[in-house]
Amino acid sequence: MNPNRISARNNFPQTSPLRQLGLFIALACAATGLLRAQTTNSETTNSVPATPPPVPVLQIKADQVAAKVSPTLYGLMTEDINFALEGGLYAELIRNRTFKAEATNAVYWNTVGVGSISIDASTPLNDALNVSLKLDATQAAKNSPAGIANGGFWGIPVKPKTTYHVSFYARAADGFSGPLNVNIQSADGKTVFASAKISKITGGWQKYETTLTTKNVAASKDNLFTLTTTSPGAIWFQQVSLFPPTYKNRPNGARPDLMELMAAMHPAFLRFPGGDFLEGHRLDHHFDWKKTIGDISQRPGHMNDAWGYWTTDGFGLLEFLEWCEDLNMQPVLALYAGYSKNTNVIQGAELQPYVQDALDEIEYVTGDASTKWGAQRIKDGHPAPFPLTYVEIGNEDFFDKSGSYDGRFAQFYDAIKAKYPQLQIISTVGFDHPAALRVHSRKPDLIDEHFYKSEEAMEAQANLYDQRSRDGSKVFVGEWATRVGSPTPDMAGALGDAAWMCGMERNSDLVLISSYAPLFVNVSDLAKGGSMQWRSDLLGYDALTSYGSPSYYAQKMFSNNHGDEILATDSQDIPTYTQTGRGGPRQVPSLFFDATRDSQSGTIFLKIVNRAGTPQPVHLKISGVNKVEPAAQSVVMSASSPDDTNSIKEPKKIIPVTASVNGLGADFTHDFPPYSISILELKAK
Ligand code: AHR
Repeated sequence: MNPNRISARNNFPQTSPLRQLGLFIALACAATGLLRAQTTNSETTNSVPATPPPVPVLQIKADQVAAKVSPTLYGLMTEDINFALEGGLYAELIRNRTFKAEATNAVYWNTVGVGSISIDASTPLNDALNVSLKLDATQAAKNSPAGIANGGFWGIPVKPKTTYHVSFYARAADGFSGPLNVNIQSADGKTVFASAKISKITGGWQKYETTLTTKNVAASKDNLFTLTTTSPGAIWFQQVSLFPPTYKNRPNGARPDLMELMAAMHPAFLRFPGGDFLEGHRLDHHFDWKKTIGDISQRPGHMNDAWGYWTTDGFGLLEFLEWCEDLNMQPVLALYAGYSKNTNVIQGAELQPYVQDALDEIEYVTGDASTKWGAQRIKDGHPAPFPLTYVEIGNEDFFDKSGSYDGRFAQFYDAIKAKYPQLQIISTVGFDHPAALRVHSRKPDLIDEHFYKSEEAMEAQANLYDQRSRDGSKVFVGEWATRVGSPTPDMAGALGDAAWMCGMERNSDLVLISSYAPLFVNVSDLAKGGSMQWRSDLLGYDALTSYGSPSYYAQKMFSNNHGDEILATDSQDIPTYTQTGRGGPRQVPSLFFDATRDSQSGTIFLKIVNRAGTPQPVHLKISGVNKVEPAAQSVVMSASSPDDTNSIKEPKKIIPVTASVNGLGADFTHDFPPYSISILELKAK
């Protein structure tokens, strides 16, 4: 028998068989789409209970190690959705810097003064950047400048005493030689925050670079980047770029504030580049990794048709890998597998070039100088190979109803295992999908299962993996989220997430890796199709600042506070509440828990989630130890309402609080606040 089942069975109230039946039905019927408002807490319906409910008892059996905690359980997943990369993590400030977002319109660009602009296909920089922006400045004069302006991704952020790096390609028409003025200025043009001059522009394409440094100005974001001239003539531009300082000062790098938020989670891995962004809706819109490497002026970019906006691919394969390196994460590399959502599936012999592309991609990531693609990575600026354990074949291939996934998976599996037997290969079709769509001709090392649910549904399925056979593939929960709250989840979302994480952590001998999704949302324009395509995202930001949702802090708590051993637990009288939505009425626990121990120090990390609106006393009994110190550290995140949340304006309304608690021991009762996620670090010997 799987030792985890000790805790699985015993996570239910043990008092009444009827209650156990209710809970079983609750789990069996776990449905999506229930809203918190549709539920009834049994404690609130019976406003004056005849007898107070019994205090739940939780036994932690410190002499029974059920399994080992997966050291890679907590990771990240990313793709370009909600302006996650362009207009998000990728620090580039200019929107549509290569003028390819629309074929004939210079979207996100405006004219300054007496100029006029057009997209010009006749004067390309190169084959990749095969159009340019023509500025007709023939009317420009000493007191009458002409130029181009870009407002960035909902603003150009200005920060005090900051140096920005400007670069662009330009080509002057006959008779024009500049100079060009380079500015960051307020949108109303009244304040120039920083300026520089390019004194001469030549007749052939050339790259120009300069820096802009602000004085001790107030931070602001309603600003423009401008390139202007007071000399009459015409000029073509390509790849107009403005970079603020980046994380670890990487050229072409990432936003420091977002990197720091993620670094604090100590994630073990990053799954990339998608998600739907990997596959695209059309074959020619998939993430074609070979077009995302090398000098950024040689990257054509592509339409991100999954989420409806252009990507320059400036944040390409190597940048994803460097993100991994900077945060000490291992890559979980998703490989394009011949399936784009609205295109015919590619299979058989026609799939072979894509299998080869995947092998080449693995070689680019891991190869040395003697390999073609390893040498290319070295040429691109990264001599050391990257560590790689996991590769994933496609994304959510259960949407491919043709049933071709088994064959496609086998082609990739055989080719990859032949060359890289050490790699763990992930299938994208889990047990939550019909058997006919799953892989059966090979045994995937892991299967990727995705869960986007209401708080109630997450709580109802928090024990999902307790009963899963240990004989099959391991599990990657590659996308999961309690989708409550927009643009970022609120406390109800964090409670559903924490209940779910207790279940994953307790079963992390099976669930080896897991990642919440989506990771990012630009909150500047929340209309669907504005800056957000998917609500309930972990981290929110605008051009200037960023914040973590309560769900972010819940994950940070879990990821930073666990041991390496899963301890067996038992319980009685766990409180429940009634869910009245689809599949209801049904009883579901309102209290969730798991216990892990650091085998070196003996510290027991007890996690308790109280989703109810009332304080919850719990009688804790720790067996199999000599002593538990009376003092311990607690980390608690709670809210006065499940609707409470964080935002750009109130970034830290809901955060965990670390404190000392006393009066603990091997047998004690502790009160857990309403709507709370708590970790007690019990010092046991
Ligand atoms: O996370 C958002 C989307 O949800 C992903 O792109 C896709 O894999 C899933 O359907």
